[in-house]
Amino acid sequence: MSEFLEEMNRRRTFAIISHPDAGKTTLTEKLLLFGGAIQLAGTVKGRKAARHATSDWMELEKQRGISVTSSVMQFPYQSRIVNLLDTPGHEDFSEDTYRTLTAVDSALMVIDCAKGVEERTIKLMDVCRLRDTPILTFINKLDREGREPLDLLDEVEKVLKIRCAPVTWPIGMGRELKGVYHLLEDFIHLYEPSKDGRVNEGAIIDGIDSPEAADALGPDVIDALREEIELVQGAADPFDHGEYLAGRQTPVFFGSAISNFGVQEMLDGFVQFAPGPRPRAADARTVEPQEERFTGFVFKIQANMDPQHRDRIAFLRVCSGVWRAGMKAQHVRLGREVKLADALTFMASEREHVDAAYPGDIIGLHNHGTIRIGDTFTEGEKIAYTGVPDFAPELFRRARLRDPLKMKQLQKGLEQLCEEGATQLFKPLVSNDLILGAVGVLQFDVAAYRLKSEYNVDCLFEAVGVSTARWVHCRDAKKLEDFRNKCFEHLAVDHHGELVYIAPTRVNLQLTQERWPDVEFSATRDHI
Ligand code: G4P
Repeated sequence: MSEFLEEMNRRRTFAIISHPDAGKTTLTEKLLLFGGAIQLAGTVKGRKAARHATSDWMELEKQRGISVTSSVMQFPYQSRIVNLLDTPGHEDFSEDTYRTLTAVDSALMVIDCAKGVEERTIKLMDVCRLRDTPILTFINKLDREGREPLDLLDEVEKVLKIRCAPVTWPIGMGRELKGVYHLLEDFIHLYEPSKDGRVNEGAIIDGIDSPEAADALGPDVIDALREEIELVQGAADPFDHGEYLAGRQTPVFFGSAISNFGVQEMLDGFVQFAPGPRPRAADARTVEPQEERFTGFVFKIQANMDPQHRDRIAFLRVCSGVWRAGMKAQHVRLGREVKLADALTFMASEREHVDAAYPGDIIGLHNHGTIRIGDTFTEGEKIAYTGVPDFAPELFRRARLRDPLKMKQLQKGLEQLCEEGATQLFKPLVSNDLILGAVGVLQFDVAAYRLKSEYNVDCLFEAVGVSTARWVHCRDAKKLEDFRNKCFEHLAVDHHGELVYIAPTRVNLQLTQERWPDVEFSATRDHI
């Protein structure tokens, strides 16, 4: 096999989906520990107080304790190279999460064993279902009293509409936690609360029917376990790899991220079951990852990750072929050949330079304002990847400067922040207002904070009479012109220069849509 195919087959690119507080950050840290990326994982408490997480870059995040930015962490595990794409947990950043999920090949769902399926998990699962993304499940916090495992699986099946195939099974819970049993490999991993967050060293005992198992757990526990496992094997689906890859069945693992227990079984299962780079749809055709010519698309842009450099980074997922340092590629939207020099890769906490990246890998391109979310880069072919949308914002605020002389900086700052896709800028045709749109109210705080700290602009975001926005298109140029003239006062251009109808009320939008049947009003803007 060629080196290219070998490297491609090693890649496993995924993201964690969960409701806030289910333990995503804690688990991420333990996964990095297994990958050898960090020597010693501090407990979340220690980390939050003392140093910030590998994936947290922004000051704001430390202050609020939420993940504002997404990041990418790459680590080797067994023969694989794992790319973990972090997603913000807070729902005000759901667009960012949505787009990140377009760049992964599978997802890991983390569920709190006491809380079960929560609201945010349901939404993220819906997003995964759009692309039939395979999902692996980790039921966390076994060291605490939780709900009956069978009950939890039942809830996952009913609420999330995906079949469950338990791979590991808890032996007790909370204070009575004794270990987990691996249903596929028939071994018991005894629980030992880990010290200092190190890899859990509890003993492994082969065979649920072995005398060693009975010795270790005692006659009552082992009898109950054997009975329960029989029941589980009768009640639950057996693991079926094909069903998992089709997104219809999820293998389920139990554990405790904080004591690093059950995590290794899950990670072993992940690298064994999870798909490598998957084919991806472009406008003209579907691209296979093993195609030798390089293609990739940008799913995220993040400004000023490193305050020392004020750089903006475009995160590109390699879909086929190999990216090599210094190579030239076609920037399809601009119809121009550009040099992709100096890309960054993301080995755990360090941003390092690499000279090759394979399908499934993420590279960070320095962006000087020419790259947008959704842009496709290829080795010449004029195709554009689809399915990385902008959503019409639901909240709108007008930017008001405290110092009117800073108008230029404000414009520049807002435009650059909007490149990241979390907020969108609208300039009404009738005024000089700068209206910022977002899906979550926290975005305005983040924008104000960053304008101050990164652009030295002091501004407020105040209420404005806009309740929703739609991108407008019309095939008939004459009709569009007519529409433009009649609805001038409700029209704006977004930061890409596209025409947008900014409606004062939903009723107004509805009436306008009825009045102009030839005009298309779109709630999403696909980046092609
Ligand atoms: P998130 O990224 O999904 O939001 O969750 P995070 O890892 O930050 O964990 C949320 C809380 O749950 C943290 O406690 C964390 O210590 C705790 N936690 C995570 N995994 C486990 C586990 O396996 N068992 C138990 N018992 N707790 C777990 P916190 O009190 O909210 O934060 P902190 O004060 O400890 O920082």
